[in-house]
Amino acid sequence: MKIIRYVEELRQELKTHRCNKKVISFVPTMGYLHEGHLSLVSYAKNNSDVCVVSVFVNPTQFGPNEDFNHYPRDEERDIKLLDKENCDYVFIPEISEIYSEDFSTFVLEKKFSKILEGEFRPAHFEGVTTIVTKLFNIVQPDFAVFGQKDAQQALIIQKMVKDLNIPVQIEVRPIVREVDGLAMSSRNIYLSKEERKEATILYRSLLYGKSLIERNEIDVDLIKEKIKDFIKQSNLAKIDYVEIVEKDSFEKVKFLESGKAYFILLAVRIGSTRLIDNFVVQVS
Ligand code: PAF
Repeated sequence: MKIIRYVEELRQELKTHRCNKKVISFVPTMGYLHEGHLSLVSYAKNNSDVCVVSVFVNPTQFGPNEDFNHYPRDEERDIKLLDKENCDYVFIPEISEIYSEDFSTFVLEKKFSKILEGEFRPAHFEGVTTIVTKLFNIVQPDFAVFGQKDAQQALIIQKMVKDLNIPVQIEVRPIVREVDGLAMSSRNIYLSKEERKEATILYRSLLYGKSLIERNEIDVDLIKEKIKDFIKQSNLAKIDYVEIVEKDSFEKVKFLESGKAYFILLAVRIGSTRLIDNFVVQVS
């Protein structure tokens, strides 16, 4: 596996592969890799000739009071893990390699970037769409792989790629969970022992929501209220949102319809750690 720190160096390497008609896959990450990331890398590797992973904690997607400075970083460990997955290139640029001092161009998706996560993190998705566009332009992969845990991010990136005719296929892969159901996330490291135990409330409340729907509850406001009440049983949990939307359109509905699929989406703070999770539920 080659470790690359400069845009030009990566471009040169990949040019050769592209000329040789190799299929190039790409997994963008912010590092501090866990099994969730590695499942994306393994999918990418198994379905391409050349697998590129980026490790870059992107400053533009963090709000002024968010955890950019504290976001966990362990380059050495990330490199070892990626090497084990037989990744071909890991791209680890410095911030200055990506954002020049006079950087002034951003990419903004306008329909889905202000709802849900966007309501609580106003500039977040603009930072994400900007960095992902830049990385797509640098790597020019045939396909890129994203995790379902960030369902709204995946939707926005798919929309951006379609709207801007970016020639890349987007693959979205399932959430990987700890044995007790907690969705894997680099931010789980922030949780104290007690908070870590309580954090399963997200998964348990999703299971509860799913069970309501399986018992033919179709009133969305009622399901949301019941899920919120369930979460409130934990005195460490503070709800940012509980939402139910149509799976493909992210449109809100009042009543669930049979034959359709929906996302139950949650953002919950456990102590000072903000966690998100979701389930797709198919209504029978
Ligand atoms: O999902 C993430 O880790 C980040 O938002 C991404 C896609 C790597 C962009 O910085």
